[in-house]
Amino acid sequence: MQAMRPEPIRGPADPLRRRLLLASLSATALTYGCNTLRAGPHFASDPFTLGVASGYPRANAVVLWTRLAPNPLQGGGMDPTPVEVDWLIAEDEGLKRPSARGTAIARADDAHSVHVEVDGLKPGRDYWYRFHAGNATSPVGRTRTAPASGESLARFRFAFGSCQQYEQGYFGAYRDMARRELDLIVHLGDYIYESSWGARHVRHHTGGIPTTLAEYRDRYALYKSDRDLQAAHAAAPWLVTWDDHEVANDYANDRSPVTQDPVQFLAMRAAAYRAWYEHMPVPASMRPKGPDATIYGRYQFGDLLDMLMLDGRQYRSHHACLTGTSASPLADCPDRGAPERSYLGAAQEQWFAGAMRNSRAQWSIVAQPTLMAEADRKPGTEHGYWMDGWDGYSASRRRTIEAMSAQPNRNALVLSGDVHAFWAADLRADFAEAKSPVVATEFVGGAITSQGASLASVANMLGKNPHLRFGRADKRGYALMTLERKRCDVEFRAVDDEKNAASAARTLANFSVEGGAPGVHLGS
Ligand SMILES: [Fe+2]
Repeated sequence: MQAMRPEPIRGPADPLRRRLLLASLSATALTYGCNTLRAGPHFASDPFTLGVASGYPRANAVVLWTRLAPNPLQGGGMDPTPVEVDWLIAEDEGLKRPSARGTAIARADDAHSVHVEVDGLKPGRDYWYRFHAGNATSPVGRTRTAPASGESLARFRFAFGSCQQYEQGYFGAYRDMARRELDLIVHLGDYIYESSWGARHVRHHTGGIPTTLAEYRDRYALYKSDRDLQAAHAAAPWLVTWDDHEVANDYANDRSPVTQDPVQFLAMRAAAYRAWYEHMPVPASMRPKGPDATIYGRYQFGDLLDMLMLDGRQYRSHHACLTGTSASPLADCPDRGAPERSYLGAAQEQWFAGAMRNSRAQWSIVAQPTLMAEADRKPGTEHGYWMDGWDGYSASRRRTIEAMSAQPNRNALVLSGDVHAFWAADLRADFAEAKSPVVATEFVGGAITSQGASLASVANMLGKNPHLRFGRADKRGYALMTLERKRCDVEFRAVDDEKNAASAARTLANFSVEGGAPGVHLGS
């Protein structure tokens, strides 16, 4: 947590006044309302270029984030001096009724980001927040605390998405998300892409493939400079996990297909995790120590749902069945089902099983990076599986799904990303056995922009895997989930054309799940 100290309440700045102040750089102390702000740096251009964000809501607390970066794409543009950043959170959009305020220190070590953990808030209500630094004022963000853990909650609505390759499209999905008054937004990974790939780019990465802290910082800054992404961050609190592209394609634990030397790879992972922390509205407990960061955890929203955020990259066993170094070719071999292999790592698996067993919530939502359902992808009668996904860790998957069957209310829902498609699936402990009961229901919420598989490939997968109940890879978008006590509704939202910056979004498909009866119901 950043250092904080209480400040006297002062009135909010007026935007016109702020513009005038930015134009006049001669003053050494600035006045907001009837109070005087201590002298700070005088920014010749806006340092809040990456917007504001909030996340990790608890019943009485939330994390507020921003980063000072007047020159975001070239290192941020700050000198190394620490800077005081004043923050304020209020019960009204006009910030007239402040609930708390303080000062955080933005340090060069953290790329001048701040992660303010505000507590003492009221449960289950909206708040608005804003930052000041020197002569600059940030935009206002809306956030929302979680309902108290025992509180009987009738309804909860959130969005989830993943995979936002910047070059392949505009973030119209976020514009659509930001227009809604959501309780939460969940990101399932591939927030940045380290490499340039795919067809028909509409905009371009700056720099090459990042490997150093400075390069990862600039990549995050490029993505976060997108106004629609900023709007989604400013609209609701987020929970996040990561997938591979936050570090390197198809990495597993301490190596990637390209960087096999663990010493070299872990240095890169440390840089990537650090830049991730600096740009996400996450608590200080997630600040990496070298190449390690604990980001999995459980978040409670009244008695209606527990959200379990999983880390599928940091602890996983190395890829199975591969002769070369790439994890992409379809393969099959006994090793992929070896019981000692794990997707989550032993400690996280054990934690997950305990969290499921002890959950008292009506619904348990398992938010994790990639398709959990088995997916035989090989055309024809032969079998072929993707070793980078859960299919490369099938015993670990079975343990994970069996753990969900211990959820007391039999209401486990899995949220997934990574595969650049919309899928809805019935999850069974044994996919080869038609009599194996459906234990949980999975929804893969498309990709914000990243391009997906062909129509033929999706048709083949639907034909070979009967537990995959719905599949579309021709549209980009995200998913909305609405939970009530006895019912879950899911809406897949798709943008008309991600290559068009002004494109609208519309419903692609609707699903429901009945309380106590896992499995996909098509239609609403
Ligand atoms: Fe992806």
